[in-house]
Amino acid sequence: MSLRPTRFPAVSRRLHWLMAAMVLTMLFLGVGMAASVSERYRFLVAIHRPLGLAVLLLAAVRLVNRLFNPPPALPDALPPWQRIAAKASHVLLYALMFLMPLLGWGMLSAAPYPIVIYGSLHLPAILPRDPTLYAWLRQLHTDFAYLLFAVFLVHLGAALMHGLIRRDGVFKSMV
Ligand code: HEM
Ligand code: HEM
Repeated sequence: MSLRPTRFPAVSRRLHWLMAAMVLTMLFLGVGMAASVSERYRFLVAIHRPLGLAVLLLAAVRLVNRLFNPPPALPDALPPWQRIAAKASHVLLYALMFLMPLLGWGMLSAAPYPIVIYGSLHLPAILPRDPTLYAWLRQLHTDFAYLLFAVFLVHLGAALMHGLIRRDGVFKSMV
């Protein structure tokens, strides 16, 4: 079996693990928010908004970094359907790292409140105030969170398959 010869550049690896921790935290914060009321809800949402904004900014940094530091080639022995699945899931993960924060920002723009990031630091509205639009985006924020979690589980399964079964250097290239 051929091995993946090189690793992801150090900056790509650092960004990957930092963002993996942030995105998973965001998912669990969201679930925690949905299950909380009053003080705990306010505490969790006060972390969710700035952390989500940081995900959006880092996703842009990561995409630019990827242009300058392209990922290493996959091992030659990898079947074509797994290459396609890897590519498709990575595109989806990148898309969701942009879409989730933008949906959060967009839905709060459509709601009749300021978008507080920290103290008096507010985000500008990116969409018009409209209760129907808010309801629509709020639902989409939930649906895409489920999609993100599902793609993450597939991604985790694939990473473990490479690391424990195929042992083809793909897992090592990211650690
Ligand atoms: C929500 C959490 C995560 C997100 C959003 C995420 C996202 C991504 C993305 C977008 C890539 C493609 C990198 C590129 O080509 O620029 C990638 C690669 C990779 N990730 Fe993750 N990841 C997450 C969690 C994890 C975890 C928990 C593991 C391992 C246990 C893992 C292992 C890997 C490996 C081994 C690669 C290299 C795969 C390849 O080159 O085909 N990831 N990840
Ligand atoms: C990676 C980015 C993000 C992820 C993974 C994420 C995930 C989630 C999840 C899982 C929920 C709970 C959904 C439900 O159970 O119905 C949620 C709710 C929420 N999110 Fe996000 N989110 C992200 C970014 C943002 C951003 C950037 C904002 C705002 C600037 C935001 C604002 C909110 C608000 C206000 C709620 C709760 C709404 C309510 O209680 O009605 N999110 N998010």
